[in-house]
Amino acid sequence: MKKIVIFLLAACITTACREVSSQRTEMDGFLDSLMGRMTLEEKIGQLNLLTMGFDVTGPRISKGVEQKIRDGHVGGVFNLWTPNAVRKLQDTVLTQTRLKIPLLIGYDVIHGHRTIFPIPLAQAATWDIGLIERIATVVADEASADGLHWTFSPMVDLVRDPRWGRVSDTAGEDSFLGSEIAKAMVRGYEQGDLSNESTIMSCVKHFALYGAAEGGRDYNTVDMSRLRMYNDYLPPYKAAIEAGASSIMTSFNEVDGIPATGNRWLLTDLLREQWKFEGFVVADYTSVSEMENHGMGDKAAVTERAINAGLDMDMVSEYFTDELPALVKSGKVKEETVNAACRRILEAKYKLGLFDNPYRGITGDAGTRVSSAEKFELNREAALKSIVLLKNDGRTLPLDDSKRIAFVGPLVKNRRTLLGSSAAAADWRETETLWEALCSRRSGGRFTYAQGCHLVEDSLIRRMTDQQNGNVLDDRCGATLIREAVEVAERSDVVVAVLGEAYDMSGEAAGRSDIGLLSNQKALLRALEATGKPIVLVLMNGRPLTLQWEDDHIEAIVETWLPGACGGSAIVDILFGEVNPSGKITMTFPRNVGQIPIYYNYKNTGRPYSDNSKFTVKHIDVENSPLYPFGHGLSYTQFAYSPVRLSDTVMTVDRPVEATVTVSNVGLRSGEETVQFYIRDLVGSVTRPVKELKGFRRIKLEAGESEDVTFTVTPDMLKFYNSDLEWVFERGDFLLFAGGSSATDNVARFTLE
Ligand code: BGC
Repeated sequence: MKKIVIFLLAACITTACREVSSQRTEMDGFLDSLMGRMTLEEKIGQLNLLTMGFDVTGPRISKGVEQKIRDGHVGGVFNLWTPNAVRKLQDTVLTQTRLKIPLLIGYDVIHGHRTIFPIPLAQAATWDIGLIERIATVVADEASADGLHWTFSPMVDLVRDPRWGRVSDTAGEDSFLGSEIAKAMVRGYEQGDLSNESTIMSCVKHFALYGAAEGGRDYNTVDMSRLRMYNDYLPPYKAAIEAGASSIMTSFNEVDGIPATGNRWLLTDLLREQWKFEGFVVADYTSVSEMENHGMGDKAAVTERAINAGLDMDMVSEYFTDELPALVKSGKVKEETVNAACRRILEAKYKLGLFDNPYRGITGDAGTRVSSAEKFELNREAALKSIVLLKNDGRTLPLDDSKRIAFVGPLVKNRRTLLGSSAAAADWRETETLWEALCSRRSGGRFTYAQGCHLVEDSLIRRMTDQQNGNVLDDRCGATLIREAVEVAERSDVVVAVLGEAYDMSGEAAGRSDIGLLSNQKALLRALEATGKPIVLVLMNGRPLTLQWEDDHIEAIVETWLPGACGGSAIVDILFGEVNPSGKITMTFPRNVGQIPIYYNYKNTGRPYSDNSKFTVKHIDVENSPLYPFGHGLSYTQFAYSPVRLSDTVMTVDRPVEATVTVSNVGLRSGEETVQFYIRDLVGSVTRPVKELKGFRRIKLEAGESEDVTFTVTPDMLKFYNSDLEWVFERGDFLLFAGGSSATDNVARFTLE
């Protein structure tokens, strides 16, 4: 029987291989013939990506795009969607260009297209990889129905600086979790088969190290050792590629002194030769022309550098179309280099099925695919699982709606903020506010409302938010708003203050030098606190904030991020205990800005922190620990962990060790917990972090229930890059930690022999 199964399996694999290789031959034949008919200019045209301006995502807008399409000078466009708009452009290609090569249509579909899910940092806080993959699948379905073929996602940049605005679009500070999420998103978008019209092509970004911008200023210089690069920052890009990502985007920053877009070591030696990436490489927005500002030479010089480094597609700069014909003629760029880039882009179009159907994906009814009940449920699940209970005194939450509850703050009735940035295809006007959700879900409640303050300080308001996007300015001054709020608070039993950041205070070009609540919000919160009423602080924001004062003075703090279209109802259900919170933060929350960078997997140093010695690594003016560590998140119930048990204290190369921990729900209601496993390599040929996440599992436990959670540690999980950049494990002693956050000290020791 066993033999028959093996035989059948082998036969299936052989047939599948044959099919793949015959598809490859078919594609090669088609592309050889097409490219044989293309002029050099037409090939260069395929390397040109222009923006259509439905959304503005960069400093320059492409001009005369339709004429350039007719002239065969455009390979793809982005910032455009809807069946009609896409159909019209592909019609232009089919009726008015010589070779009728369909356009590739891209867009930043970051956390939803029409239906907006929680921002990526919030999705990461679910620690639910299957959920994240399902989201990517439905997002792809919705985007493809709107004529899109290509999303500029996943954004897998590792980040340790919450001042950087784009942390909202990332999975946070951990390489392992970030890699798992990156793979899930690629699988969800592409499903291993781009010919399926409800998929879209992914684009891993921003290669590389974009998240390490100095000081958290967007687009800033990056400088780091190869060791840190290989061990911490590069793995998520590599993981996404191994999961089958078909394209990758360069970053704006330099890597080892050379801008990523023109960095041959990065784009060729590492990406193509070491990692065997076969898809195509696109520049980030005008990053080819920006190399002039970096000081890499004039227009011709930076173009030559970019294509020779391994860049295939130029986004918006139009330097390839302007300069490559002459560079090829002069021999500075080989024609084969242009051919190879063009072929990679045509291959992507072929795999997407665009040569068979340039209207790919838009034949169905886009409307129906947008608003399905299933999608709504998925979105709600994501919002519910992403909300993190940062602090609870155990009495204030969940809320009891027999009490008089004041809802105060500029975000109670705000629609736009719920969606976060990168949500331009969605209609935020349809989003249910927290207040609307409250009134419909808890209709018997005694709720009052006061705005309390403007969302942002008056000095910032015109710069940061535009009123058309729902951030309404009114004429009342700060003191009046606070007075009204205090009156409302005084007539209530408990106050819920809903504060945070406007939607455009995180995301691209939204670095902040101070990541506390804005001073006007803080003034409101202090006034509310002075009433002596118990306060719940509900936060909406796209990054970790500094919340030391709030943690010291406020009874309960709930981090809801920018929770997407179902955010209002999810927050209400969490506040009233219909659903028990279960999210866990994936970025450390510092106590103050001076602690940054602060992350859980730091190195021990020669003078590790100690309370008892002056001469150890610390600041003298702040506690050494973060306010909330990576992996932290509370529940309305409590989970107790048994000591870690190991199957053996000795591991050999072919015998892994199993670590088991019994997790018990010792509280009064059912809840979900993410059990986390960390490892410390005690002695290495290079210094090793004090802890590294290696595994996790989300479990659900009824009140009083216990479960054994087992984690198998293999020697492979102990590998790291040594100083020769070899991926190795080293024999010796290790610690294994298990617990509900990175701060766990529940530990066992084993030896790899
Ligand atoms: C961003 C990218 C984005 C691109 C296209 C750039 O400014 O850095 O993440 O994909 O614009 O909109």
